[in-house]
Amino acid sequence: MYQEIDVDHINLELPPPLDEPDRQYYYIAKCREQISAFREKNGRNPIACITTFGCQMNARDSEKLEGILKTVGYEIGEEESADFVIFNTCTVRDNANQRVYGRLGELKGYKRKHPDRKIALCGCMMQEPSVIEKIRTSYPFVDLIFGTHNLYKFAELLYALQGRDDMLIDVWEGTDSIVEDLPVERKYPFKSGINIMFGCNNFCSYCIVPYVRGRERSREPEDILEEVRRLVADGVVEVMLLGQNVNSYGRNLKHPMSFARLLREVEKIEGLRRIRFMTSHPKDLSDELIQVMKESEKICRHLHLPVQAGSSRILEAMNRRYTKEQYLALAEKIRREIPDIALTTDIIVGFPGETAEDVEETIDVIRRVQYENAFTFIYSRRTGTPAAAMEQVPEELVKANFDRVLKTVQSTARERVSRYRGRVMDALVEEVNENDPALVTGRLSNNILVHFPGDASLIGQIVDVSLDECHGFYYMGHRV
Ligand code: 5AD
Ligand code: SF4
Repeated sequence: MYQEIDVDHINLELPPPLDEPDRQYYYIAKCREQISAFREKNGRNPIACITTFGCQMNARDSEKLEGILKTVGYEIGEEESADFVIFNTCTVRDNANQRVYGRLGELKGYKRKHPDRKIALCGCMMQEPSVIEKIRTSYPFVDLIFGTHNLYKFAELLYALQGRDDMLIDVWEGTDSIVEDLPVERKYPFKSGINIMFGCNNFCSYCIVPYVRGRERSREPEDILEEVRRLVADGVVEVMLLGQNVNSYGRNLKHPMSFARLLREVEKIEGLRRIRFMTSHPKDLSDELIQVMKESEKICRHLHLPVQAGSSRILEAMNRRYTKEQYLALAEKIRREIPDIALTTDIIVGFPGETAEDVEETIDVIRRVQYENAFTFIYSRRTGTPAAAMEQVPEELVKANFDRVLKTVQSTARERVSRYRGRVMDALVEEVNENDPALVTGRLSNNILVHFPGDASLIGQIVDVSLDECHGFYYMGHRV
């Protein structure tokens, strides 16, 4: 356990250990020496700034990076003043890539003015050889590039970076190793994401994730449970179990274990109040899981169940391995078994070959399932995926289809969410409202947000709130 490794008493005269995480703790201690030298020279601690793009996995990875930065002596601050700027990138859709290039362009002048400052890039985009090539040629001022498989080596890379002028690139093609017990700095004291597995084996034909995150690897249940226990002892009341496809958790373990069974074990941890998880692939969602959710006191009444498209023909081309009818039957079963559950989804519009009639099928699914919320994306062509080689849909058609889907989502969600009006439900208070400091924002078990009068002292507490006014995807309410 990392608390038990005393970074101040590591013998730095010895060569670095070969075992992990000991090796990284050795480099953390080495980095601390570098930071002391910085402090002596500049009379202050160095400042680091991490910008995170993309999903919850990346958010969790950034917490790991921040944990190491803080342990070695960095303070976390704003980009303009930072001695070390890090972009944790996403490549699921091209617009995230473009944003990173935009930000890098802006950083050119910053680097010219402060040549001592360092810039690092990591995350999914860096697993693409063409991206590395582009950065080498167009943004040669970047100091460090590393990928998703060797994130745990961050302390070692940080150490290697000092005193170097050339670009340090360390990207691995893939690895089975999962390194446990490195420091993590949580964004919220009362809730936390927890990786239960890494990678994806599904190869949906549009998706780049299996190429950049590698094959599925599950963490040992005991490591996960220990992490949850430790978090709960540290004040966490809500956990989010993270994986690209949590429903296939545990299949590749030495002693295979189903996701439903893992949930039963997590449920037993005293002091933990709420359990969430993301993401569920419909093809792997078991009756056992529905049963566990139904019986559970702690598993939140929310299931994110990406449908992607409503047309069985398109679903087949997407390699999703279910039909429209199978998906609808599953959604109906879940709603029947757990009546107060909120269902949310992801939808892609404009997949190659998708016609206006196909989009009608998607709209039909939205109307029938009545999602509480849906994330709608325009298809983005990802180099190297099978769909990239298929015939693409003209932009104007995609735009028109997208607008229709979005309108349907908005109107059905509003109707569905408004069903909770007048109910009293428990909300975990997450923060003071961004726009109105007299209000706080809480999350209901079903993932719907509610804003109500309160102050910062409520943050982290679960309180009863009356849901007074429905505003589409969220509520205004008051404490009861
Ligand atoms: N284009 C558009 N959306 C995509 N997603 C994944 N790949 C693509 C792509 N190439 C969406 C899917 C997935 C979500 C995380 O991102 O809907 O569920
Ligand atoms: Fe991508 Fe499909 Fe894996 Fe999700 S399940 S990460 S959409 S390949």
